[in-house]
Amino acid sequence: MNNIKYLFGIGAILSLFFFACADTDNQAVQQASLNPNGDSELALLMRAMFLDGMQVKEALKKGEKPEISVEFEKIHSAKATEPEKAASDTYHAFALAYEQSVLALQDAAADAAPVYYDQMVSACMNCHKAICPGPTMRIQQLEWKRE
Ligand code: HEC
Repeated sequence: MNNIKYLFGIGAILSLFFFACADTDNQAVQQASLNPNGDSELALLMRAMFLDGMQVKEALKKGEKPEISVEFEKIHSAKATEPEKAASDTYHAFALAYEQSVLALQDAAADAAPVYYDQMVSACMNCHKAICPGPTMRIQQLEWKRE
């Protein structure tokens, strides 16, 4: 059972190297980037947000106060692979909700932090379900109940 979890973890990390919104989990592993123009600023930020989220989850599981070290406010300005995706009102509304959820998590008392953490993961998920469904399986790895 533990091995299966481990493999899921490796898969999640490997799949980070695949292109943005496409659901490319089955692509060949040796293709580090499927985007011929290189990875966008937003894609790189998203990967950092994912890894930061994993660290926050670990800290919370140990009862430690989480440190958010990713520049999450850049979600408003980072250039996307498909710029129109990050230019819509929908995108900006979800980005704002995400930003608020990070600020609330940072301010949360230790015993309430997991609840705020979950709200942050929901904020990731809400935007992704609406405009960028490819990475939703990866984002599920961040969910608190998963272990
Ligand atoms: C406001 C909408 C929005 C929010 C909120 C959001 N994302 Fe994203 N995410 C995107 C878009 C758009 C892309 C595609 C970026 C690109 O290709 O330039 C993306 C891409 C990704 C990718 C794929 C990156 C790659 O190319 O390898 C991952 C993983 C990801 N997001 C995880 C997260 C996580 C984790 C959170 C929350 C901590 C989050 N996202 C919050 C819109 C959002």
